[in-house]
Amino acid sequence: MKHYTVLKKESIEGLAIKEDGVYIDATLGYAGDAIEILKRIKRGKLFAFDKDLEAINYSKQILSDTKKEFHLIHSDYVNITEKLNEYGISKVDGILFDLGVSSVQLDENRGFTFMREEQLDMRMNKEDALTAKEVLNTYSYEKLKDIFYRYAEEKKSPWVARKIVENRQTKPFETTFDFVNCIKQAVGEKYFYEHHPERPLFQAVRIEVNQELDHLQKALEKSIALLKPQGRLVVITFHSLEDRIVKKIFQKYSTIDEKVKGLPEIPEAYLPKLKIINKKVIVPTVEELKENSRSASAKLRIVERTNVK
Ligand SMILES: C[S@@+](CC[C@H](N)C(=O)[O-])C[C@H]1O[C@@H](n2cnc3c(N)ncnc32)[C@H](O)[C@@H]1O
Repeated sequence: MKHYTVLKKESIEGLAIKEDGVYIDATLGYAGDAIEILKRIKRGKLFAFDKDLEAINYSKQILSDTKKEFHLIHSDYVNITEKLNEYGISKVDGILFDLGVSSVQLDENRGFTFMREEQLDMRMNKEDALTAKEVLNTYSYEKLKDIFYRYAEEKKSPWVARKIVENRQTKPFETTFDFVNCIKQAVGEKYFYEHHPERPLFQAVRIEVNQELDHLQKALEKSIALLKPQGRLVVITFHSLEDRIVKKIFQKYSTIDEKVKGLPEIPEAYLPKLKIINKKVIVPTVEELKENSRSASAKLRIVERTNVK
């Protein structure tokens, strides 16, 4: 099984791991980062989340060989606080989010790609009810248009939404190529080959199926609350919508509220809870890009919790 871990060295360094710390890998995947975390802790613990059971089962074996303490949690990271509380954990030293789908999921015939003909599924958790097929075959014109505008930022969203509703009256959407062909019909061949709208439009359906942006926003807020003073939060994003959410939350918690800025003494509650570690976003090196072209859009942001409660 071929799997690449994007920005591995940079994100592990970003966690500034302590030997006896408690660490969370919110997106375990195929354990590329988790194994590095375990190598660096002695009496510490790792809790790792993934909503994909196959990723959990695969990683269990690899991590067992390290003989370190780890707990794998088959859950969406949106439940991070509640799941950790079940283990009696309320504060942690570091949390890593390496977002999106893994290269294994992309290659696994689960309908994430527009490059091969596959069933339209796109669920990261196979136990979830909503599939890409369901989105395309049942959502209203308005709802489809809205998803495409918000999650694909595609100006031809109304054309695509209209064509979907029209096409499914004669034949329901089954495969990724049904969707690709529909997009081509809706926007015209010239626009299709010049702008490649299928890329963001597939992303939009994937975001909807997995509730990615809503869950990311909630999980980041919870993660900030979980960090001990000097605890680190490290996030790798793969597209601008994700990155905007991360940047905004990090900014919100690392700056002093305008309302109190001029006061001679700032009340503790208004002091920043986060310190930004890398002012400039970290991106893959030329060497990494050569080895794994899928890392091209990756951006890494690191913050540290201050002493403010
Ligand atoms: C890019 S991969 C992580 C790869 C991992 N860092 C490694 O080195 O192998 C992202 C993983 O996060 C999982 N994932 C994505 N969103 C999730 C969520 N909301 N909750 C839990 N897991 C999620 C996916 O199923 C996938 O396995």
